[in-house]
Amino acid sequence: TVVPPADPKNVQGDITIGFAKRLETAIFFIVDDVDSFRKQLALLVPKITTADQVANDKDSIKKHKQSGGTDLLKISGLNIAFSQSGLTKLGITDDLGDAAFKEGQFTDAQNLGDKGSTSGGVFTPDWIPTFRSAVHGIIIIAGDSQTTIDERVAETTQIIHLAPKNGSCHQVLRLDGAVRPGDQKGHEHFGFLDGISNPAIEKIDVNPFPGQETVRQGIILLGRNGDPTTRPAWALDGSFLAFRYLFQLVPEFNDFLLHNAIPGLTPEEGAEFLGARLFGRWKSGAPLDLAPLKDDPVLAADPQRNNNFRYNFPEDPQTQDRCPFAAHVRKTNPRFDLEGLNPPASTEARRIVRRGIPFGPELSAQEQQQNTTLQGRGLLFRCYQSDITNGFQFVQHSWANNTAFPPQKPETPGFDAIIGQAADPTSRTITGADPKAQTTALPLPIEWVVPKGGEYFFSPSIPALKSTFGK
Ligand code: HEM
Repeated sequence: TVVPPADPKNVQGDITIGFAKRLETAIFFIVDDVDSFRKQLALLVPKITTADQVANDKDSIKKHKQSGGTDLLKISGLNIAFSQSGLTKLGITDDLGDAAFKEGQFTDAQNLGDKGSTSGGVFTPDWIPTFRSAVHGIIIIAGDSQTTIDERVAETTQIIHLAPKNGSCHQVLRLDGAVRPGDQKGHEHFGFLDGISNPAIEKIDVNPFPGQETVRQGIILLGRNGDPTTRPAWALDGSFLAFRYLFQLVPEFNDFLLHNAIPGLTPEEGAEFLGARLFGRWKSGAPLDLAPLKDDPVLAADPQRNNNFRYNFPEDPQTQDRCPFAAHVRKTNPRFDLEGLNPPASTEARRIVRRGIPFGPELSAQEQQQNTTLQGRGLLFRCYQSDITNGFQFVQHSWANNTAFPPQKPETPGFDAIIGQAADPTSRTITGADPKAQTTALPLPIEWVVPKGGEYFFSPSIPALKSTFGK
């Protein structure tokens, strides 16, 4: 049966469009008094930013820039989502039909490759304490400035009482993210431009860029065409949010690149080239598949071209001439590596919509001198999908952490160099790092991305927030 498409007025804005943002705050909370929480939530619902509103905001920003405006428009966003323990606390007992969500990320941590210790047969990941016990929900607040964020946080806490105690709920953790300064705007902490490749959603992103694949709505939204599972009626137009608190060891990563610089170039160029080989894109964002030997900032900045590749270049696609099989972007979206199999395999069910933001300070001089991280920094990673077991969990566990993926290659690809996790974090290798020695396995001495927590949440539709959550 063909289901009609979603109405953007019903969908939370972070899911299908993505907030316009300079700053973003995530508030994690525990519900204490169910009755008063539900009443307060009903009052918060009109403040929640829908996909429709985000689309209008982005339109205004575009028009403002086109008319020569250089200042930032005051724009903000507010979304809310609940974990399984949150649903249970609220007395919502319907099964949403996603095993990973139901168990929660803490239970999934070992399967994802997170490090930890086992005692009495129970695995405890090396996470911060907040994520080692229940978190009922997350409130995401985005804005153009700290003032906007502060106003939104104040307004939200006035409506739902995130009091230390005796309120309807209380905050257990607040994490603040920010777009990096100056020319690093849009780049994650290792220095690479992020947020280039996301799938287009059918009937929502109606003008996809060349190379941007369109997925059916049900790959991201529950209950729509392409959702593999039958869900409770009220789950329609919701989406699962996988949140990960990922720390990045930036000076250690930079030091590795310098010490293993690809030969035949200056040390700086060789280090830059190795970094690009590990990601599959240059720091500028230019994809190696289109710019294999040297960075091309013009290509990188051109949305008509910067995602238009499939790893099926006219030369033998079974080589790592242009891009290592285990480069981060190839591992997490292998394109022709699966489509070219006999019989072809689709990547559609594995596509996720990414909405992360960096956290933590820029590198200090001391950290650069000592090649050692002294202050925490990384990525507040978020992604949306209609099924965590098919989406985030699969990409992390069965692709990034699986040395034999992509399949049927002449050399074993190795771990996703950036996010792949091994039982022994010092044991990772990757082939194809040096295009002139593609069969050589390069040891990756440590894991430079370190998860310190996370949870799986469900981001309900506006109608569900009114009918099933609030009262
Ligand atoms: C793409 C960085 C974690 C999945 C990218 C890109 C960068 C990047 C620079 C290229 C820009 C783009 O294509 O939009 C990072 C960093 C991470 C991280 C620094 C950790 C701190 C993750 C995780 C996942 C993931 C945990 C999922 C399990 C993806 C996907 C793409 C991507 C699906 C797009 C690939 C494509 O369509 O070509 N990431 N990422 N990333 N990343 Fe990550």
